[in-house]
Amino acid sequence: MYRPQILKATLIAALAGVPMAAQAQDPAETGRALLQEFCASCHAIGKTGDSPRPGAPPFRGLNRSYDLDTFPRQLRAGIVSGHPDMPEFKFNEADAHAAGVYLRSIQE
Ligand code: HEC
Repeated sequence: MYRPQILKATLIAALAGVPMAAQAQDPAETGRALLQEFCASCHAIGKTGDSPRPGAPPFRGLNRSYDLDTFPRQLRAGIVSGHPDMPEFKFNEADAHAAGVYLRSIQE
């Protein structure tokens, strides 16, 4: 099965010189790489900084409107939301889990 998210994360890891074994052991780092790839063009994904796209909420405040226990499930089902020009994203189970772990680590 072709899984572009995994492929991209793998590519990022390879470019950054991160051994895959180490990456697999750290879901937070995998999650950060995924959000960097798919979301950071609009959303601030770190603990500080403004979103590049005005109106896109920084992810560090996500737990104010979302239950982070169920958010990974939403990522798997596909985030559609009311985003006018946000493409629809669908994460596989491992990626959704990784994104959830990372998101939890940056909440203020
Ligand atoms: C092309 C720009 C763009 C990209 C890329 C993007 N978003 Fe968004 N997103 C927005 C905008 C603009 C809003 C606020 C407007 C809205 O909610 O309709 C938003 C809102 C959201 C919200 C709602 C936040 C809240 O507090 O209600 C979530 C959740 C979200 N985005 C998740 C993601 C995730 C996860 C990704 C990456 C997989 C992503 N977005 C990628 C533009 C984007």
